[in-house]
Amino acid sequence: MTSEITIRRPDDWHVHLRDGDMLAAVVGHTAHQFARAIVMPNLTPPVVSIAAATAYRGRILAALPAGADFSPLMTCYLTDDADPAEIARGYQERVFAACKLYPAHATTNSAHGVTDIRALAGVLETMQRIGMPLLVHGEVTDRDVDIFDREAVFIERVLAPLVRDFPALKIVLEHITTSEAVAFVADGGAQIGATITPQHLVINRNAIFDGGIRPHAYCLPVAKRERHRLAVRKAAVSGSPKFFLGTDSAPHSVGRKESACGCAGIFNAPFALESYAQVFDEENALDRLEGFASEHGPNFYGLPLNEGSVTLRREDIGVPAAITAGEISLVPFHAGETIGWRFVDETPRPVIGAAPVATNR
Ligand code: DOR
Ligand code: ZN
Repeated sequence: MTSEITIRRPDDWHVHLRDGDMLAAVVGHTAHQFARAIVMPNLTPPVVSIAAATAYRGRILAALPAGADFSPLMTCYLTDDADPAEIARGYQERVFAACKLYPAHATTNSAHGVTDIRALAGVLETMQRIGMPLLVHGEVTDRDVDIFDREAVFIERVLAPLVRDFPALKIVLEHITTSEAVAFVADGGAQIGATITPQHLVINRNAIFDGGIRPHAYCLPVAKRERHRLAVRKAAVSGSPKFFLGTDSAPHSVGRKESACGCAGIFNAPFALESYAQVFDEENALDRLEGFASEHGPNFYGLPLNEGSVTLRREDIGVPAAITAGEISLVPFHAGETIGWRFVDETPRPVIGAAPVATNR
């Protein structure tokens, strides 16, 4: 049995680092495990300009723990008023790595998102021409569509026509959760990829209602039926270059999660690699973890692979019930559970508090 694996330093191709105190509380966890990360732009107000992305990048770098070797890759939040010239300039000046499409009202801070993608033809043509990736939150927002069907309906109504109309546009379908998404990406051209989160590999929708309502298992897109989880797992470990690591780590304070209207998002950054390693191990595919975590993403984005390596050791680790930083308390993915892999690194892990949180268990 493999007791240790060493892989090229990985990247996180989808993360929410937030801002202010929350940024300071969470960024060290991502920087500890990953060399680079695609940083989501859904701040309040959203990151829609070169100036805003440059300033946000500066705040991220300033919040990093001393000695961290981490590069944030910034994204531009698309609105109905998105300006193709600003986007092209931002990409050419290497401020923006990609644009993010949130259908309006699909998720956290998406009120300024796009109401009709067809109105963005000018932006999409420009992105296609310059090779700039479009990152897609793939859910329709129509209240008549069942929440568990919103990804599949998005693929049919929005994504398939988009791919037909912009056949050379690089598209990443983010945080895929369904067999329909797996099939669409697998059957598409090399210009279409997908990110996969730890939670969509580990939980199905039962986890959200396990003996009571479980706000820490709630994210968007919401976890689906078991057969979908199995399809997503198969894609992740398939070795296909179309599928790569994107945690979608999305911290919300414990009070905002455990509420009458709890926020969507799972904070998985502190034990992300351990969680992925466990899945790849369970699928007898540890030899494919490196491709998924460290190669497919940079190859898709046309960026160099990282130098250096990280090691994961087979060893039980207990995930704390909560992680505290100053006034902020966060419940991590796998809280209170044991994971069978340890991330081995010479640099110390950010301080992890152990304040207990309420549980029905
Ligand atoms: O669960 C989610 N949380 N999904 C998203 O798309 C956004 C994210 C957030 O920003 O909290
Ligand atoms: Zn996200």
